[in-house]
Amino acid sequence: PPADEGCCPFRDATSRAPGVDPNGCPVSPQAASFDPFDSDYQLDPAEALRWSRDQEPVFYSPQLGYWVVSRYADVKAIFRDNQTFSPSIALEKITPVTQAAQDTLRRYGYAMNRTLVNEDEPAHMERRRALMKSFELEELAHHEPMVRRLTREYLDRLVDKGEADLVDEMLWEIPLTVALHFLGIPEEDMDTLREYSIAHTVNTWGRPSPEEQVAVAEAVGKFWQYAGRVLEKMRQDPSGHGWMKYAIRRQKELPEVVTDSYLHSMMMAGIVAAHETTAHATANMMRLLLENRVVWEDLCANPSLIPNAVEECLRLSGSVAAWRRIATTDTQIGGVAIPEGAKLLIVSASANHDGRHFENPDALDIYRDNTTDHLTFGYGSHQCMGKNLARLEMRIFLEEFTRRLPQMTLVPDQTFTFVP
Ligand code: HEM
Repeated sequence: PPADEGCCPFRDATSRAPGVDPNGCPVSPQAASFDPFDSDYQLDPAEALRWSRDQEPVFYSPQLGYWVVSRYADVKAIFRDNQTFSPSIALEKITPVTQAAQDTLRRYGYAMNRTLVNEDEPAHMERRRALMKSFELEELAHHEPMVRRLTREYLDRLVDKGEADLVDEMLWEIPLTVALHFLGIPEEDMDTLREYSIAHTVNTWGRPSPEEQVAVAEAVGKFWQYAGRVLEKMRQDPSGHGWMKYAIRRQKELPEVVTDSYLHSMMMAGIVAAHETTAHATANMMRLLLENRVVWEDLCANPSLIPNAVEECLRLSGSVAAWRRIATTDTQIGGVAIPEGAKLLIVSASANHDGRHFENPDALDIYRDNTTDHLTFGYGSHQCMGKNLARLEMRIFLEEFTRRLPQMTLVPDQTFTFVP
């Protein structure tokens, strides 16, 4: 390659591994060995990328075929500019789909279309505006009694047992039930949709084997068809609360903006967007707080600290570790040349631990005044629409747990596993 022109300015010329990036620059040994599916990254993505934040904040990963971005300022700049960095690949499958799985999906008439999160402008903003009302604080307030009731019911069941798997027995289920209520899904359909929802995640972000792919495709296909039937049922009577019902009503006014295909896709994608993100963020929050006993006791003594504690947990240990964009033109990030068509893995978990933005970044500090700057919900025009529902759920969980079970502790020496 030509002398280091356009190459990463942070790279140390003495430590190079074989392999070149799309600019023709040599790839460093750490970049060459970066693998987001290995256990270091899975267990603690921010820690696994500490070297990158310090030495090579934008690097090409030959294993992944993506540019990885790890510093706060760079991740935020990418989120902010959705023209140069399109979100169109946000839900692209990480593992290529086998022919057998494609055939299976086709049999079910699976036709998942773009949904807000991976849509370009101007279509995206038109839809986002048309569908925003259900996410406003006064609308969300309608859901608060339901969240509190569910939390208390589940806690009642756990309290006398003495020991519980919080994820299996509570934190997985409640955000799913809340998501289904939020969408306005009829009670009688909840159990079936509950069964299918996990398949969608494995299908998008997982590493299923060829055999698993077919099984997952079966479930995704069934999920798709069932979602269509529930939607038809909702069309019969779209009155009342619920985002999908609201969307059906908006379709009458704006048929070009809120299309049939969009409604069907959103019905399926919405469940996943609202469910696992919140379930995992809550599980991470409970773990983090119980590992920091002084903070936990502060919250038990003073519940008004809870909202900021939720935010700080989302910063330190949020559930969405990274997001994706694709460069629509030749550009630069942090001084590194990025060619048109380059795929970017923007690691918000790493950005949230960047000492250039957060003082003492690895400490859980619920008194921090810039906690809400975290990028766990993304940033800019695609920023998570459901962030206030997620916050509401996490706050209520903490209010109820600290009140009912201030003495609770983590089971020692347990092994935690993560969804890849
Ligand atoms: C802790 C929980 C959650 C996390 C960490 C999370 C994270 C995210 C992220 C990273 C994005 C992409 C942001 C971007 O591209 O800038 C996003 C978008 C979105 N989220 Fe969430 N989310 C959570 C909960 C929810 C909930 C509860 C709902 C629905 C009730 C929801 C609905 C959406 C929607 C509709 C979008 C697309 C917005 C757009 O592209 O305009 N999310 N979320």
